[in-house]
Amino acid sequence: MKNISKLILTFVFGTMAFGFQAKAEDFPADIKPLMTKYTCFACHKVDARLVGPAYKDVAKKKYSVDKIVALIAKPQPANWPGYPPMAPMTVPKEDAVKLAKYINSLK
Ligand code: HEC
Repeated sequence: MKNISKLILTFVFGTMAFGFQAKAEDFPADIKPLMTKYTCFACHKVDARLVGPAYKDVAKKKYSVDKIVALIAKPQPANWPGYPPMAPMTVPKEDAVKLAKYINSLK
């Protein structure tokens, strides 16, 4: 029992500390919960390189929404020389489509 509460506490505080460093504030209110839930915000910002490319730079590639959905599930690191490879993310299709449409809406 003790160990479990310790685990939970570590998780809660760990998440809080994490939240401090990586900023999800840049994202609009309807997209922010998804970026947070799937931890995208930890590696991506709207208009600056973080671990991964800025979403604005992804938008410049003019992918289709379907293509972005596929790339979230199965990243192609060769598309981004000089970046570490992105880990494949498990995002339900419906949410992945929302994220992809948002990325493509960036200019
Ligand atoms: C651990 C860090 C990390 C996380 C978390 C992460 N990404 Fe990435 N992402 C990267 C990196 C690094 C790249 C560039 C290298 C690559 O594509 O493998 C990238 C590339 C991308 C690309 C461009 C793909 C291409 O081939 O042009 C998209 C779109 C993307 N990420 C969306 C997302 C979304 C949406 C999420 C959340 C569901 C997410 N990423 C979570 C690090 C991350």
